[in-house]
Amino acid sequence: MKKVVIAGCLIFTFVSAASLTLAGQGPETVDLKAAYKVEGKKSAVIFPHHKHQEKVECAKCHKDVKGGGPLVVDIVELTGTSNDFHKKFCWPCHVEMKVVKGKSCKTCHS
Ligand code: HEC
Ligand code: HEC
Ligand code: HEC
Repeated sequence: MKKVVIAGCLIFTFVSAASLTLAGQGPETVDLKAAYKVEGKKSAVIFPHHKHQEKVECAKCHKDVKGGGPLVVDIVELTGTSNDFHKKFCWPCHVEMKVVKGKSCKTCHS
């Protein structure tokens, strides 16, 4: 029984250390509507950054392999459903990585 408890504590320590490291590397969430001053009627996309950091390498999204700074694509077009977030960034990866409901409006515009 003691062994199980010790093993449990060790796992807990590793997991919390891992999430602390992640927490230090990027924001937990980003309001992309505010950050890119997007105009329009769709509800703001609150991007779950930490969830992505845990599953995807920084270099898939950031030009700097260590993360942060500019994104791998230039986001210029911000209006309508053909905006660059949809076409160049969020949707292609969700399709490539087979994210469940990755292109469903409500997944991102809650
Ligand atoms: C994978 C995430 C994602 C999905 C899925 C998604 N969007 Fe978006 N959308 C964004 C992001 C990011 C922006 C830009 C930031 C913002 O507006 O909050 C945006 C912006 C928009 C805009 C331009 C801004 C505005 O308010 O008019 C429209 C229109 C839009 N989306 C419609 C849709 C529709 C319709 C769907 C479903 C077919 C959809 N989106 C699905 C991420 C997504
Ligand atoms: C799935 C895509 C994605 C991944 C993976 C990702 N990021 Fe980000 N990151 C973003 C987006 C989108 C923003 C907010 C928009 C912007 O900054 O232009 C952002 C913003 C940031 C910011 C705050 C803004 C800045 O430029 O300083 C930091 C810091 C950051 N990311 C670090 C990281 C680190 C470190 C990793 C890897 C451990 C990582 N990111 C992985 C997409 C991603
Ligand atoms: C480079 C790949 C990549 C890019 C770019 C990317 N995503 Fe994702 N996204 C993923 C993966 C992988 C998942 C599934 C994560 C999981 O299973 O926990 C995901 C899941 C999500 C989810 C669901 C999270 C949940 O709670 O289940 C949302 C919301 C989301 N992404 C929004 C966005 C938005 C908005 C953008 C663009 C600004 C974006 N993603 C760009 C790879 C990406």
